[in-house]
Amino acid sequence: MVENRIGECESMPAEADAAGEQGAFITVEGGDGAGKTTLAKSLAECLRQSGRSVRLTFEPGGTSLGTRLRALVLDPELEMGDWDETWLFLAARASHVHDVLRPAIANGELVFSDRFSDSTLAYQGYGRGLDLERLRRLSDEATQGLIPDLTLLLDVPAEVGLARTRTRSSDGDRIGDADLAFHMRVNAGFRALALEHGERIVVIDASLDASSVLLNALTTVNDWLEARSSGT
Ligand SMILES: Nc1ncnc2c1ncn2[C@@H]1O[C@H](COP(=O)(O)OP(=O)(O)O)[C@@H](O)[C@H]1O
Ligand SMILES: [Mg+2]
Repeated sequence: MVENRIGECESMPAEADAAGEQGAFITVEGGDGAGKTTLAKSLAECLRQSGRSVRLTFEPGGTSLGTRLRALVLDPELEMGDWDETWLFLAARASHVHDVLRPAIANGELVFSDRFSDSTLAYQGYGRGLDLERLRRLSDEATQGLIPDLTLLLDVPAEVGLARTRTRSSDGDRIGDADLAFHMRVNAGFRALALEHGERIVVIDASLDASSVLLNALTTVNDWLEARSSGT
């Protein structure tokens, strides 16, 4: 287990007053074992320390319905078609958007989601080979057009990510346990999405140690917040 290196937060500039903050929606994306959950927790803690109102949530999950759907979609005992898998993810996303994400953003919170729509395109599109345009349309329906302000893409070779997940205790994961070639297509998909959406997606080298990844991510988030508040 990599600990949260909260000491890293101290080197970051304190963010301005939390009162009357404008909400923001930031997603953390990447393949299995890239370090998304580890980073999202540390980032949320650091930004809370700087006085911000932070909401940390994840997909699939984040709502009661999402939690049930997560168990189904990841259950290694359950066989399902690729579109069936997609619909379950999209149903989980729709409830996450209207029950959690939109209200928190409207409430001025800095909202971090551990996975969001880019995962659907990377896993079901590039990984499973489903039609990307159809996936984009359905994903837009599920999110009702909600697009992240900023996406941190943790990039690590699939072999490294998978080796990391093996150290994690798990009851099995129908998607995470897929073969290496699948995970390589997923990673290539994430990189293609980063090229396509350079204005939103920032690629972070996740092969570095966890504290370097955290520092790079914090710098990216603080730069983005600063640019927004100065209107650049
Ligand atoms: N930068 C890192 N270097 C080495 N190990 C890491 C790093 N980030 C996370 N880990 C470890 O790798 C495993 C997977 O991390 P996790 O955050 O669960 O990945 P993800 O949520 O992307 O699947 C965990 O055991 C975690 O402690
Ligand atoms: Mg995770």
